[in-house]
Amino acid sequence: MAQDKLWGGRFDAPTDKFVEEFNASIDVDGCMFAEDIAGSRAHAKMLGRQGILSDDDVKQILQGLNDIEADIENGDIAFTVALEDVHMNIEARLTERIGAAGKRLHTARSRNDQVATDTRLFLRGRCIEILASLHKLQAVLVQLARQHADTIMPGFTHLQTAQPVTFGHHLLAYVEMLERDAGRFSDAAARMNRCPLGSAALAGTTFPVDRSFTAQELGFDGPCNNSLDAVSDRDFVLELLSACAICGVHLSRFSEELILWMSAQFRFIDLPDAFCTGSSIMPQKKNPDMPELVRGKAGGMIGGLVAMLCTVKALPLAYNKDMQEDKGAVFDAFEQLAGCLRIFTDMLPDMRVNRDSMHAAAASGFSTATDLADALVRDGVPFRDAHDIVGRSVAFCIEQGIELHRMDAAACTAIDARLNPAMVGKLSVEDCVAARNHIGGTAPEQVRAQCDIWTNQLNAQEETQHA
Ligand code: ARG
Repeated sequence: MAQDKLWGGRFDAPTDKFVEEFNASIDVDGCMFAEDIAGSRAHAKMLGRQGILSDDDVKQILQGLNDIEADIENGDIAFTVALEDVHMNIEARLTERIGAAGKRLHTARSRNDQVATDTRLFLRGRCIEILASLHKLQAVLVQLARQHADTIMPGFTHLQTAQPVTFGHHLLAYVEMLERDAGRFSDAAARMNRCPLGSAALAGTTFPVDRSFTAQELGFDGPCNNSLDAVSDRDFVLELLSACAICGVHLSRFSEELILWMSAQFRFIDLPDAFCTGSSIMPQKKNPDMPELVRGKAGGMIGGLVAMLCTVKALPLAYNKDMQEDKGAVFDAFEQLAGCLRIFTDMLPDMRVNRDSMHAAAASGFSTATDLADALVRDGVPFRDAHDIVGRSVAFCIEQGIELHRMDAAACTAIDARLNPAMVGKLSVEDCVAARNHIGGTAPEQVRAQCDIWTNQLNAQEETQHA
């Protein structure tokens, strides 16, 4: 053979040096060494049980794999691009150490079922981590929401003042989004939890493998049903990239709000110094870099999803080398998302909330107009008429430069006989939020009730996680 490649037999000339580098995935898949070794252990044990390998070979393989794993963990093994990927780096090391038995490990296996197995195992671990991070951030938000169940801020539509809301209610909206994000990760993880091992290159193997055994050894729910699907399916990568991108988008929207709220024009919040930076020229600046970066990272996650959809969309069955690009995209998305969740979890508890600014903003901009129309309706005025009366009142107030509750008796009757100053004078933002006292409404009482529900749910989740 022309070279020391594991597949070198039919080649005369060595691989081009740059091709070797370009072809390699070890820089990206080296992090899956523990999963690759776990997969090899399960495969070797199965080969032994089925009488495909001798007990002695299996013993040597298992011992060799243990040693290699310890060496990698201690940094005593350097991977090489000449051996392309984590699978061949580890296999070559094994043979180097234990000789012939190492060469038998790849019986009834291909890198195609191997990489599909390793990637699923690795992503299963990342999903567990992300779920824990999501729950941590939810807990922080619920605690903040409880503190701010009575804090009143303007609610917006079109970024124009709409109706007063409680800050706690606003925060709980993100708790809901994060819960659906968690659902997406756990759904995808459950669907992914089938074992490709035994599918070999694409068609299965001529050896009497026990696929249920390897699946069980590795904690899968069972073997994949179709060998072609098992080695060519990457929709678990697409689903997880999509879950990352959507969660990234949620954090990006939240970031956008924090950035707006911290501006001199809003002054609703102040983010902790430890999470902001200054300007090299403008001494007064304190910039919300962390939420800006989180907003920026969402772009990368969306890009990763789109890149992989494009990569997979025209691939014939079964394995194609294009698929090697999957790991970089999805591993990076998980890493970026984990960082974003950590930033939010650490930053939000120390955020200063300027209740007075929030309240003042909520009390201006005619945020109580809907409530005035509702009051007219309760007096028997049809809603469309009420809408018109209040609309004309707002126009009058804009002209006078006053707020609705400052309209006097003369102004009221001039607009419409059905409008009375008692009704107008009663319009406090506190009343507005307290009145929306139903499931899903912004009333402080509802916010506290939701916080209780979330606290119980998150505690229960934590208990099952540690069980
Ligand atoms: N490094 C490859 C990947 O990540 C492993 C599978 C290679 N299989 C093959 N037939 N070339 O996809």
